[in-house]
Amino acid sequence: MSYFSIIFLLVLLINVSIYYILQKFYIDSKKNDVLFAAKTSLDYIDVYNNKVDLEKLKEIQRDVYSKIVIVLNGKVVYDDFNKILPLSDLFKKEIVTKQLNIYGEKYYILSYPIMLYNNHIGNIVFINSMKWALQRIKYIESQIIVISTIVLVLAFLYSLYISKSITRPLDKFVFEIEKSKDNLVLDEINIDGYKEIKRLCEAFNNMNKRIIELDKKRRQFVADASHELKSPLAGIKVLVESLQQGAMEDKNIRDEFLNSINNEIDRLSNLVNGLLELAQIENSDELRMSSLDIKELIKDVVKSLNPIAKNKNITINVEGEGIITYVNRDNMFRAIYNIIENAIKYSFEDSKIDILIEKDEQIKITIKDYGMGIPECDLPYIFDRFYRVDKTRARKTGGAGLGLSIAKHIIKLHKGDIEVKSKVGEGTAFIIKLPI
Ligand SMILES: Nc1ncnc2c1ncn2[C@@H]1O[C@H](COP(=O)(O)OP(=O)(O)O)[C@@H](O)[C@H]1O
Ligand SMILES: [Mg+2]
Repeated sequence: MSYFSIIFLLVLLINVSIYYILQKFYIDSKKNDVLFAAKTSLDYIDVYNNKVDLEKLKEIQRDVYSKIVIVLNGKVVYDDFNKILPLSDLFKKEIVTKQLNIYGEKYYILSYPIMLYNNHIGNIVFINSMKWALQRIKYIESQIIVISTIVLVLAFLYSLYISKSITRPLDKFVFEIEKSKDNLVLDEINIDGYKEIKRLCEAFNNMNKRIIELDKKRRQFVADASHELKSPLAGIKVLVESLQQGAMEDKNIRDEFLNSINNEIDRLSNLVNGLLELAQIENSDELRMSSLDIKELIKDVVKSLNPIAKNKNITINVEGEGIITYVNRDNMFRAIYNIIENAIKYSFEDSKIDILIEKDEQIKITIKDYGMGIPECDLPYIFDRFYRVDKTRARKTGGAGLGLSIAKHIIKLHKGDIEVKSKVGEGTAFIIKLPI
């Protein structure tokens, strides 16, 4: 409706202005013709004898389609208009032009002074009926009105089309979204229309897919976490019940059961710690970064892991240059700690771990062990939460399967990347890449 109103007003404006422009154009051109005629006709007026050369005058009249009134020395010497004119207004020493309504008809009047030695002695008045001109203008006007009406009808149809093809699809789009506002997850929306509408749908559907994916991951996470918490709790419950039912009597069995309960509690607290860490990292959207030497950081990690490494008689070599870079110290420490801890956990006794720091376009940290390795089929999943290659082995080593996912998350937050290369029986290499 607003488009239509704008077009309607424009058409109206154009119509009115064309009417006035045409009228002005007619009057201007008439004025020029009549002025010229008036000047010429002066030659045929005998001011001394109050006479006019009728024949010549008639010729001039025909040329400009005018009636003429001539007044000389206060007397009307010629008049073929024969209607009453407001003479006092017209008989002036200068040129007078007027538009007058006489008996319901519109006239254009030009009065030209007749001079004799600088004395004003009379006037020649040209009277032009505007009837014919106005008729022409009216005719043009009616043509314009016809064209305008067609334009308006087309504009109206176009407005309808616009509203149908833009406004309605958008309305429908909003309707589709609001229809299922109780659900976070929406069905795919497909609305026919312009390319832009289709792109809007596409963008929305893609975003929707990401939300669905996220929602799925969230549910999976809750399910996995509950499952992980459930099994140690179930284990503890079984052990406690056995103790209540008499296992207490035998000292050896009692000690063994209490030991198992203690292990299960360790496992639980490991798991809860991991989950807390994960939550903490995910909630810290802005990392507090500081510049530090990455080699020093790795050396600190190795120092804190040395006791565990010593237990298995594993030596850890750190090689490469010191590189100053921007990281969040606590988080990066945790990420590298998790990876080196794995390397120790999954290495055999009396072996070694090689850590190499390199620098080209980015920082590259390789952590290589010569342990049991990871089967190829497990490689794509080892960064997933709770994923462990061997559940029973994890029980022994006490891992919750969160270490690598935490490490990867931290490295991603630093805009870096982590890869793994491994061969069963030969060892594993984790490669961390960080921007400089
Ligand atoms: N250096 C490694 N050598 C062999 N296997 C590894 C190594 N690092 C990780 N893995 C495998 O990847 C799994 C996931 O690691 P992680 O997320 O740290 O969990 P976990 O708590 O079990 O250590 C481990 O359970 C293990 O099976
Ligand atoms: Mg681990």
